Amino acid sequence: MKTSELAQLLLDITETNIKLYDWQRRWLDDTSRFRVMLKSRAVGGSFTIALESITWSLIKPFHTTILLSYSLRQSMELFRKIKEQLSKMKNKRVKFGGENYSLDVVGFESRTEIVFRNGSRIICLPNNPYTIRGYRADHLYIDEAAMFKNDLEIKVAAIPIIAGKSGRLSLISTPKSRRGWFYEAWTSNIYSKHRIHYTDSPHITNEDLEGLRTTLSHLGWMQEMEMVFLEESNSLFLTELIFSCLEDYQYTDFTNIKPSNPLYIGIDLGRYRDSTVIVVLEKACEDYLKIVFIKEFTDVDMTYQQDYITKLIDALPP
Ligand SMILES: Nc1ncnc2c1ncn2[C@@H]1O[C@H](COP(=O)(O)OP(=O)(O)OP(=O)(O)O)[C@@H](O)[C@H]1O
Ligand SMILES: [Mg+2]
Repeated sequence: MKTSELAQLLLDITETNIKLYDWQRRWLDDTSRFRVMLKSRAVGGSFTIALESITWSLIKPFHTTILLSYSLRQSMELFRKIKEQLSKMKNKRVKFGGENYSLDVVGFESRTEIVFRNGSRIICLPNNPYTIRGYRADHLYIDEAAMFKNDLEIKVAAIPIIAGKSGRLSLISTPKSRRGWFYEAWTSNIYSKHRIHYTDSPHITNEDLEGLRTTLSHLGWMQEMEMVFLEESNSLFLTELIFSCLEDYQYTDFTNIKPSNPLYIGIDLGRYRDSTVIVVLEKACEDYLKIVFIKEFTDVDMTYQQDYITKLIDALPP
């Protein structure tokens, strides 16, 4: 029985009403050691790797899968998908290879890991090169691989995970810029390539697409839905430079800003497609500007925005 057939059987047993698309079957039956999936948004990438992990864990005792996501939230979301599918299977049985198996397969479960009764494990981890060191896996998945800020560092930490066990590696993502591990993988000839356009996943309705078309900029649409790796020439600053400046910011109220240095406010007003973004910079020293405040308004009334901006300007020292 092919992997895709067992995966479909698991879906049927749990009455999800999902019939695997052709591309999902091709992906599930592709046993190449290195695979890359370039995809439009929402086609079902995470769903497919979650299902694949479960399927392999059942077929192969002591099979270890690690799913790496670019943030803690994404990692928890993926873990939730896997647990949901497993709990739907709990009281069912499946006939496979002439034998009748119980699908009450989970032996132990923690915040990030599921241990199957047959010794297989599925581990979901967020993006942290230090945490992933020391693991060994038969299959390592990198979900939304192009979104990792420190992807090259992750690559260095990830390779030993699969090296010891002759493990497999799968990168899944919508494209970002022409840089980094995901772009390298897509343009190399080591990886088996799968290109999944939104038209390959008919659960994405015309209504969904219309909604996306109006919220995304033209370039955003080309990247997120048409899977175009954008040229550096689309931006004033090199992507490398932008990435090196990125940091996670905690939004605070502007009344908490107490700088002693000059401040600059930049406002990009968005009316229909883009959101409005307000950024306040503090001139910390001669050639160093530090971002002290960022605010984004999506679908917020213009009068409210104008009022907010006036209050912001009044509150901050000139
Ligand atoms: N064969 C299928 N038929 C119908 N619905 C499907 C199928 N495969 C996946 N889906 C549904 O597609 C939706 C999106 O899935 P998922 O979140 O995995 O997509 P994704 O490509 O990872 O999205 P994102 O780009 O946001 O990360 C889910 O609700 C899932 O149930
Ligand atoms: Mg996803």
